[in-house]
Amino acid sequence: MKKISAQTVRADFNDLTAVVHYTRAAHKLGLWASERILIDRFFPDKDARLLEAGCGAGRVCTALWGLGYRRLHAFDFAEELLAQAQSILLEREAQITLFHADATRLSACHVVKDLRFDGVLFMFNGLMQIPLRRNRRRALRQLAAVCHPGATFLFTTHDRNSSAAEQALWRLEARRWARGKQDPVLREFGDRYFEEEGTGRTFMHLPDRDEILADLRTTGWEHVHDVMRREVAAESRAVRDFSDDCRFWVARKA
Ligand SMILES: C[S@@+](CC[C@H](N)C(=O)[O-])C[C@H]1O[C@@H](n2cnc3c(N)ncnc32)[C@H](O)[C@@H]1O
Repeated sequence: MKKISAQTVRADFNDLTAVVHYTRAAHKLGLWASERILIDRFFPDKDARLLEAGCGAGRVCTALWGLGYRRLHAFDFAEELLAQAQSILLEREAQITLFHADATRLSACHVVKDLRFDGVLFMFNGLMQIPLRRNRRRALRQLAAVCHPGATFLFTTHDRNSSAAEQALWRLEARRWARGKQDPVLREFGDRYFEEEGTGRTFMHLPDRDEILADLRTTGWEHVHDVMRREVAAESRAVRDFSDDCRFWVARKA
């Protein structure tokens, strides 16, 4: 059985079901209440040069434009989503530099070669959709490399310990891994690969808090803040239908 790779993830995001799902969110959903609160708090300067990684169909970057941020770059590695993002930018007359890139290979990208950003956002768990921890760390390093010291990084992940029910499920999964009985397509403990009607196939790595703290430490980022979404804002039904609870992380380039 073929293991999940970056190609699998990219193909899943280029699939029509996913494209429709994320495009609809870009047009209709906009920012979550929690995202808005944390963006206002940690990106107070509208003149800051910001980079959005994994922008998908443009849900976050177009909302940032709407809030008055004017120096925006955004990228994704899924071409079909980028095409949708391009359309929404045109429609909203948002002047955002949109480009195609893989977060794990940003150093090879000519668009950002000579730029340094004041902040980076990797929203709705995009970083955790990179298979293998060494690749997620590579992306973290590459994002740090295009930032000024002191730049702010906002991203989200799940948290395997966020509830008693999650912990019980992961204890069972740990037993499967110990016996070699896990889903053979998965790469590491914490990975999930599933299909949902209306969303398509999704690869996601679910970390625990210590894993992210260690990854930030070793990739040029200092931890500033982390908090579960439910503690930031009560989200609307539409947002809860679109997305599970998650942990927000704020880090600063060392
Ligand atoms: C869950 S979607 C979120 C999309 C958008 N940010 C939003 O919130 O609606 C995650 C996004 O990360 C992108 N992504 C995942 N791995 C990536 C990588 N290695 N490089 C660039 N983009 C990546 C996917 O293509 C997808 O658009």
